[in-house]
Amino acid sequence: MRKQIVSANWKMNGTLEQANQLLDAFAAAALLVDENRIAVFAVPAPFLMLAKEKLSGNPYLFAAAQNAYSKKSGAYTGEISVEILQSLGIQYLVLGHSERREYFQESNAFLAEKVNIALAFGICPIFCCGEPLEIREANTQNQFVAQQLKESLFHLTPAEFSKIVIAYEPIWAIGTGKTASSEQAQEIHQFIRAEIATQYGEQVANEVSILYGGSVKANNAKELFSQPDVDGGLVGGASLNAAEFIQIINS
Ligand code: 13P
Repeated sequence: MRKQIVSANWKMNGTLEQANQLLDAFAAAALLVDENRIAVFAVPAPFLMLAKEKLSGNPYLFAAAQNAYSKKSGAYTGEISVEILQSLGIQYLVLGHSERREYFQESNAFLAEKVNIALAFGICPIFCCGEPLEIREANTQNQFVAQQLKESLFHLTPAEFSKIVIAYEPIWAIGTGKTASSEQAQEIHQFIRAEIATQYGEQVANEVSILYGGSVKANNAKELFSQPDVDGGLVGGASLNAAEFIQIINS
């Protein structure tokens, strides 16, 4: 059975004081999590150890990094390696977020290298894909997303592919308050799973969790997550509000 996952993505937000408050609230909350329904918190890198410690009382809550570099170690000032993350005990890593693709020119080929090194260090990539508005308006989102998957992921072996999580995040829905409808989300999630099935077979396709991201809020999470191919969410803005994010996790 594939996991249901709700992941916070704090992006570049919050001070140490705010991080402490939020993490304390999540650690103390009654969350409907278990081995098949987990919550992940992608926090800014300086808060990783804090998050890991604060969440350590609940085995189904995980701290995650928002990015890492493609090399094992070396003279790459300012970057973070998966070797460092592994040494901290971090198990999840967001890769290929559209903000990284847009502002830091991360290409599909570069992301393939990052996925490879994350898997080599036993860290699960939460691989983001999704189309910009003009692609959606041209109704070519399926081809666009298929290309992202092909160029960054489809070189993996079936065993490797089974270890990753995919997050579909239409760029036009990120931070805009414009959510994809549950039908739009289901349609493209089903397409993504079918592409995986074509490449790796039904069994692998059915094991991979596919999360939806883009203006997920407490008032739309249940409907989105109830779609058969939507296995949870990757949540930006609403993950910075403890009460709201707790509701989203429990959806
Ligand atoms: P919002 O939930 O703020 O739209 O952000 C989505 C996102 O980018 C999560 O990675």
